[in-house]
Amino acid sequence: MRVRRQGLQAGCVVLWVIGSVVVAGAKVTQSGKAVAAKSTRSAATSRSLVAATPPMGWNSWNFFAGKVTDKDIRDTADLLVSTGMRDAGYVYVNIDDTWEGKRDATGKIQSNEKFPDMKALANYVHSKGLKLGIYSSPGAKTCAGYEASLGHEGQDAATYAEWGIDYLKYDLCSYGGVMHQQAPNDVPAQNKMMRDAYELMHQAILKTGRPMVYSLCQYGDDSVWDWGPSVGANLWRTTGDISANFDRMSLIGRSQAGLEKFAAPGHWNDPDMLEVGNGRLNHDENVTHMTLWAMLAAPLIAGNNLTQMTPDVAAILMNKEVIAIDQDALGKQGSRIYAEGPVEIWAKPLKGGAKAVAIFNFGETASEMRGIRLHLKEMGLSGLVTARDVWAAKDLGKIGDTWRTTVPRHGVVLLVVR
Ligand code: GAL
Repeated sequence: MRVRRQGLQAGCVVLWVIGSVVVAGAKVTQSGKAVAAKSTRSAATSRSLVAATPPMGWNSWNFFAGKVTDKDIRDTADLLVSTGMRDAGYVYVNIDDTWEGKRDATGKIQSNEKFPDMKALANYVHSKGLKLGIYSSPGAKTCAGYEASLGHEGQDAATYAEWGIDYLKYDLCSYGGVMHQQAPNDVPAQNKMMRDAYELMHQAILKTGRPMVYSLCQYGDDSVWDWGPSVGANLWRTTGDISANFDRMSLIGRSQAGLEKFAAPGHWNDPDMLEVGNGRLNHDENVTHMTLWAMLAAPLIAGNNLTQMTPDVAAILMNKEVIAIDQDALGKQGSRIYAEGPVEIWAKPLKGGAKAVAIFNFGETASEMRGIRLHLKEMGLSGLVTARDVWAAKDLGKIGDTWRTTVPRHGVVLLVVR
């Protein structure tokens, strides 16, 4: 169902995305009277907005990939608590691909030998004050070649609910082949099949009555940001896969410019999971990654091995002020305000009128910002502003448009100004 704004008047009608359900609370007649609405309202109406702020948690893929086991998930749950990450907001523990076993005689999906008892695992994760996420595909096989949901959507959603699953990442994978086979050379028809497949699982989730974050993964095809909310998505991947290097991470982050109008409480652009602490990303690169994702109001789904997390990486992932920018209740994704060579200035409006301002240096040498103004006017600010340097945790007092500083190679300076 598409979000329909036509004929609706502000103040009369509440469009509310609840648990991935778009509910038109009432329809306005010509006389302006509100009448009871036809809606996809379900038991979900009484619960609060799912993903009111970008989801935060951890996912197994970026580090463990196909090797992830029940023990890795339990260890991660323990560490999310003991490191303070849970209390910083990272509550979803998401098992990505390769947990799937075969189906039993009734068609019910089983977990494989790496995950002996999914319900027990969910109970364990829940006992830590965390939530459990899982992964599947609308195709017959997942991207790693495991059993997926084609033809079993309702059954799988019911099984996830029975296990106690709180989050589903639904990855296109082999369904792409089905689309090509059934609608050869007909891209619009293929795209419709894709949207229908995502809607099918959306409805299956709703039918369970269990709130689940619904995460679309189809790599940004067919401008998913345009129709994601209409199939109940709480987040949708906007790109192909991230990898743990500066070029790929920064290319993805920078290419989100222009998508800001599609993000809002309940549904977010997802530039993929964090690689902070993975690969060879150095301190400044990790800081840039975290800052860029916070400026984008992106889901913060850590992807590192918590058993080996360094204090530096922990401090980056748990910087409270940076997380607060990502999680700001206004739910606005930041925009690129200015670019000059390798230097880019992005701004994100925050609740109460302040702005987060990030000065990125994607270049190969430090920048003194020579000749580069902050471009405060383009952010709707004028004169002197009160500024705080977030990563330095230092109040700067009043600054003007010509304020400048040194921005390290592959680094960023993040301000909050008001
Ligand atoms: C990819 C997806 C990755 C991961 C992987 C698992 O399609 O983009 O994030 O989920 O599949 O096989």
